[in-house]
Amino acid sequence: MLQGKRILLIVAGGIAAYKSLELVRLLRRGGATVCAVLTESGAQFVTPLSLQALTEDKVYSDLFSLTDECEMGHIQLSRDADLVVIAPATANILAKLRAGIADDLATAVLLATDKSVLAAPGMNVRMWEHSATIENLAALASRGVLFVGPNAGDMACGEHGAGRMAEPQEILAAIQSALNAETPLGGRSALVTSGPTWEAIDPVRYIANRSSGKQGHAIASVLAGLGARTTLVTGPTRLGDPVGVHIVHIESAREMFDACADALPVDIAVCAAAVSDWRVAKAAGQKLKKDGNATPPVLKLSENPDILAALAAAGSRRPKLVVGFAAETEYVVEHAVSKRQRKGCDWVVANNVSSTSGTFGGDDNTVHLISDMGTEDWPRMGKEEVAARLGARIAAHFEKYTSCIP
Ligand code: C5P
Repeated sequence: MLQGKRILLIVAGGIAAYKSLELVRLLRRGGATVCAVLTESGAQFVTPLSLQALTEDKVYSDLFSLTDECEMGHIQLSRDADLVVIAPATANILAKLRAGIADDLATAVLLATDKSVLAAPGMNVRMWEHSATIENLAALASRGVLFVGPNAGDMACGEHGAGRMAEPQEILAAIQSALNAETPLGGRSALVTSGPTWEAIDPVRYIANRSSGKQGHAIASVLAGLGARTTLVTGPTRLGDPVGVHIVHIESAREMFDACADALPVDIAVCAAAVSDWRVAKAAGQKLKKDGNATPPVLKLSENPDILAALAAAGSRRPKLVVGFAAETEYVVEHAVSKRQRKGCDWVVANNVSSTSGTFGGDDNTVHLISDMGTEDWPRMGKEEVAARLGARIAAHFEKYTSCIP
């Protein structure tokens, strides 16, 4: 959902301004464009140069800059964004916003904007608890201003209590839900599994597979982008964490099973992980030594729980839509059709992972979508495109999405 969005970030003068730099980084990673307005007191805490480097854009500060007004007037600045975010929102800027004071660029933009405003208050606990601030907040909330935080904790000034600005990830989540209010999967929740699992043989060795996690991670990003509150339970991969997704890192199939159970209830479950079917029945507590052993050790395996089948059989906690993957090397569709029945899932995305297909670890995938409507053969495409199509299908299933799917 962040992809292509424009955020106008107002950085006011609070110690938490340094956290706004991290927020910019997260927003950019998610594909958003960030335009920053730095107040005069904000510039006491972070430099225009830092913001400019991270936003890769001009930083605006001056209401009466002739150059800025020629290039991008404050009215246009306030209208160009999809969302205006104030982080940190000090007691002062909130009071001015309530009163309609526009004596600098930030407050002029806030008064002129026709877009939603999300504020992340950050201030000393006494200022936060002051009746003036309480009244200002109530008035602003009744006008539709959105708030995230503040949190309670130790403050930079040495006091303790409410007033710490929310963490960048929390602000990011609030930005997403503000942008997602009207999105196809807004209000829905999703669970995605991704990557391989590692099954310990001893403290240093494990059984794994070649799954890269690219497909599962891409699906989690797409579902989050469509507005679903998304949890990604992932085995070890080389990929970065997708932005705007709640991530749970696990290693073994049993850990993945537990993390998925913890994530319920959800509306949508997509099991894209390459879960190891077996684990070593009794992993050695110490590293297995070859010295002195005439014969190599024999590994006794036991079966791992089937996460997909368990989610599909979760009774009242069963996700409304359960989607499995079937990685096959031959009779791809036939095997996938019987897998759908055996595991009790609604849809199966079947793909060919034979060594010549280049799917495992690669960027492309050729898939077939198997549902109660039959089998659809999709052309070969990038894993991100597979994720986008699947996301569109899921959204259509939940009857909110009307875009035409080729
Ligand atoms: O049985 P198979 O491994 O081919 O099934 C693949 C599908 O089942 C995938 O969706 C995979 O994520 C899921 N699966 C699972 N737990 C297992 C094994 C597979 O969720 N233990």
